[in-house]
Amino acid sequence: MDALTLIKTRHSTRKFSDKPVEKEKLEQVIEAGRFAPSGGNNQTTHFIVIQDKSVLSELVRITREEFAKMNLKPDTYASLATSIKLSKKGTYVFHYNAPVLILTANRIGYDNNMADCSCAVENMMLMANALDLGSCWINQINWLNSNPVMVAYLKTLGMQDGETVYVSMALGYPDSPDGLPLRRIVERKGNPVTYVGEA
Ligand SMILES: Cc1cc2nc3c(=O)[nH]c(=O)nc-3n(C[C@H](O)[C@H](O)[C@H](O)COP(=O)(O)O)c2cc1C
Repeated sequence: MDALTLIKTRHSTRKFSDKPVEKEKLEQVIEAGRFAPSGGNNQTTHFIVIQDKSVLSELVRITREEFAKMNLKPDTYASLATSIKLSKKGTYVFHYNAPVLILTANRIGYDNNMADCSCAVENMMLMANALDLGSCWINQINWLNSNPVMVAYLKTLGMQDGETVYVSMALGYPDSPDGLPLRRIVERKGNPVTYVGEA
């Protein structure tokens, strides 16, 4: 697949099969993330790669419990409101049961922390598409990045003092009829372009 087709056919996967991700493929996805650009070439993005089912279950439990304690306000961001509502019902699984969850953490107070994590995650999502894997950006961990219960648990997983999680990514084989990511190309209605001058 050429580069533009790879980019245009990447889509979020929100239904994953149980099929484990091969070690070689997982390593390629992580490598793609590590080779992303970073501000000032700082390379401070810390990848925490979780495949342990008991850890994933504990993260589901913590997110559910902590979101369930939150109050909805009229201006609550729509996706956060959904997380809160489903958590209050007790049915919320923030990572769509993906077999792998990759957290990208970076230094608190570093100006490009979120930007560097975003570049890394986009690289990993494209690599996933190239390897017939599905992926999805996950915001729920960073929405709890000042929650003491979540922070304490993330530290047991290797998050360092002075770091916080900015972006997470679910990864696995899509639960689709052919087992492949849905690769339709959706035309863009937004993202306007203004050309100034000609090449
Ligand atoms: C900054 C950002 C935050 C996102 N947060 C979430 C999220 O928390 N959960 C989720 O399921 N998808 C999330 N997404 C995925 C978007 O919903 C998705 O990329 C968008 O709807 C376009 O669909 P596509 O990825 O299939 O092209 C996020 C994407 C971005 C770039």
